[in-house]
Amino acid sequence: MYERLRPPGLPVAAEDLLREARLGDLAGDARPYLFMNFVESADGRATREGSSRELGSEADLEMLLALRTIADAVLVGPGTIRVEGYGRLVGNPQRRERRIAAGQVADPPLVLFSRSFDVPWEAAVFDASEQPVLIYTAVYGEAPDVPAPVEVVTLDPYSSAAALADLRRRGVRALLSEGGPTLFRGLLDQGLVDELFLTLSPELVGGEERRVIGGPPLGAPVALGLQWTLQAGDELFLRYRIGPAS
Ligand SMILES: NC(=O)c1ccc[n+]([C@@H]2O[C@H](COP(=O)([O-])OP(=O)(O)OC[C@H]3O[C@@H](n4cnc5c(N)ncnc54)[C@H](OP(=O)(O)O)[C@@H]3O)[C@@H](O)[C@H]2O)c1
Repeated sequence: MYERLRPPGLPVAAEDLLREARLGDLAGDARPYLFMNFVESADGRATREGSSRELGSEADLEMLLALRTIADAVLVGPGTIRVEGYGRLVGNPQRRERRIAAGQVADPPLVLFSRSFDVPWEAAVFDASEQPVLIYTAVYGEAPDVPAPVEVVTLDPYSSAAALADLRRRGVRALLSEGGPTLFRGLLDQGLVDELFLTLSPELVGGEERRVIGGPPLGAPVALGLQWTLQAGDELFLRYRIGPAS
């Protein structure tokens, strides 16, 4: 049998829904609660002309900004930084005030996992003097003199789990990851991802574009448990738990 999702319920703000979800409370002691956010087209493409910028509407941007607002830190892969550039993660002063009211720091650190320390220093985020950046790497290296306050943490031996454990020790409970497909695959393979927020954009893209998850086929399909379905116009916002529905 099927359940109708229409007619719709009362409109609700993304940030209110996300605060109610209390994702940080779901963190264990070993690592933060890690939730990925992706937008994809109806034909499953996570990029258009090589970037995600052209996918998704204003409602998708609002969901992304709401996720950043409730997160203690935001993880990004160097490939995504290279393409998207980035900047101050929470640019809106009201959002920063709401973070402070919720007991969080005004600016969530941007966290970069780069084992090789192949960091795109020319990316706009390093010009944002208000945006703290935390880089986990396997290499002993120093950041060049950039306006953004950058801390480099070298892990020997390096592992994603060790980097996440360090973040948890620093008080990060709710960790948003903004990708990309390579990093998602690496973290998923190691069982380190808890949720996937997926925006289904009402368009067809075609071509040889990126998918949400990179790499060869998964050995066995990873089951997802649907947590919610939201609609804004023709766009769908799906929240999945990694693993079967509880
Ligand atoms: N549709 C969307 O919502 C969305 C979201 C994000 C990105 N994107 C798109 O995706 C593209 C970028 O994705 P990408 O896959 O090329 O780059 P990425 O996933 O952002 O970064 C890849 C890099 O992550 C590093 N990494 C650190 N730990 C890793 C681990 N455990 N496993 C795997 N990699 C790890 C690797 O560098 P080291 O070898 O130095 O560790 C790797 O080269 C862009 O086109 C962007 O626009 C789309």
